[in-house]
Amino acid sequence: MLILGIETSCDETAAAVVEDGRRILSNVVASQVEIHARYGGVVPEVASRQHMLQMIPVVSQALAQAEVTLDQLHGVAVTYGPGLAGSLLVGVNVAKALAFATSLPLYGINHLEGHIYSAWLTGDSPEDSSGFPLLCLVVSGGHTDLVLMEGHGSFRLLGRTRDDAAGESFDKAARTLGLGYPGGPAIQRVAQGVATRERLPRAWLAGSLDFSFSGLKTALLHRAQGHGITPGTPSKEAAKEPIVMELAAAFQESVVDVLVAKTMQAARQTGAKGIILGGGVTANALLRDEMRAASSGLPVMIPPPSLCVDNAAMIAACAYFHALAHEAHGWDLDVEPSLALG
Ligand code: KG4
Ligand code: ZN
Repeated sequence: MLILGIETSCDETAAAVVEDGRRILSNVVASQVEIHARYGGVVPEVASRQHMLQMIPVVSQALAQAEVTLDQLHGVAVTYGPGLAGSLLVGVNVAKALAFATSLPLYGINHLEGHIYSAWLTGDSPEDSSGFPLLCLVVSGGHTDLVLMEGHGSFRLLGRTRDDAAGESFDKAARTLGLGYPGGPAIQRVAQGVATRERLPRAWLAGSLDFSFSGLKTALLHRAQGHGITPGTPSKEAAKEPIVMELAAAFQESVVDVLVAKTMQAARQTGAKGIILGGGVTANALLRDEMRAASSGLPVMIPPPSLCVDNAAMIAACAYFHALAHEAHGWDLDVEPSLALG
């Protein structure tokens, strides 16, 4: 079954063709990062206009690279939430038009569910290699969710952030340290190999599987100000300052510590048979290493970094399982910017 996936929830215009939910035939991503970097974050109005410009070329490229024509497809899948309303609208309307013109079924996909299905694109089928239930940590720019996947399409939310998302906290921390946008990769780069004497707090929220990162953000701001670092225009020099490197490393350690500890706690509590990581923050090398080290024999499935960040292959992969369950959408499919999982 060949499915065309479309993803425009934030600042990546993406299209992909995936076979049987597992084999990527093409995976095209047009990133807007450079455009938004000059504003220090995603500007929604700019993002949706860029999607309008990029969408058709990106879909054409995905079909061409897969050597597939529209009439060979079996379905069109698109992210309908969560995300930026104006950005989601572009993808949803293009997907509707394509599906209508070709009489193909239309699958509206939850972006967070899509991140989980990246694990099916790694050459492995998690339900075969470990079996359900699977404990999923979805950490992106807008979400920090611990979710129990009890089967395809069956999700139970166990914990979530009460304030900032993990990715958002990386982005804000990078701004505080003058490291630019997007913050996650910038922090990882300068923190690499740094043995820090700095230590920042961790919000454990004892007894709960929820997260909180806003206290850490404020603690970093105060510590940075104490060292004479003031948020300003990102600079190459900032990345070479030893104290900036140390604070970046300390910040990364705090976030990773809490994510790993809570994921393992949830896995134990639920008797999960495996762990799946998804979302942009799971591209983080320290998080990947620490999660594997802490897993004590439990299989940990982490997609390669290119499939952790936003892409359309994960949307097409997820849609395959909805197709098997005969769950297509009608032409009244609308965007849901605040769509949740579970
Ligand atoms: O899933 P994603 O690509 O888009 C959303 O759905 O939000 O996640 C983007 C987030 C950004 O906040 C970015 O800073 C973070 O993922 N991120 C990282 C890394 N790469 C991307 N955070 C930490 N370390 C990374 N290497
Ligand atoms: Zn995402």
